Amino acid sequence: MKKINIRSFAVVIAIAMVLVLPSAAAAQNPSETLYKTKCAACHGPDGSGSAVGKKLGAHDFRSAEVQAQSDAALNAIIAQGKNKMPAYAKTLKADEITALLAYIRSFTPGK
Ligand code: HEC
Repeated sequence: MKKINIRSFAVVIAIAMVLVLPSAAAAQNPSETLYKTKCAACHGPDGSGSAVGKKLGAHDFRSAEVQAQSDAALNAIIAQGKNKMPAYAKTLKADEITALLAYIRSFTPGK
């Protein structure tokens, strides 16, 4: 029977950790990932609104105009849509919408 080489075992563990850690870090904020894949096309990665989004009438998430609206009001816009804003009640779970709203609240002027 072959003896287990501790050193090569340690090398395998080290490589496995290097491969696993970055993906674990990326998964730390799932709402950010969700925002970037589903919302950033119109709202921009920083919430200010992409060229397309602004043309459709999206407002800057960093503005008081948006941040002054209640959680319930913004939640309803995400779930039911408004004018050119698509409705997400069918494609996102309620807790995903809540998490996205918290992410939108993190956009403040100067960020
Ligand atoms: C096709 C472009 C588009 C996409 C994709 C999109 N939105 Fe919007 N969104 C809009 C537009 C346009 C408005 C403005 C609606 C209005 O007031 O007429 C809006 C409005 C909003 C508002 C209210 C504040 C504001 O800008 O008036 C919130 C909150 C919002 N969107 C969240 C989201 C979230 C969260 C996602 C991703 C799940 C998303 N949107 C995806 C176009 C988009």
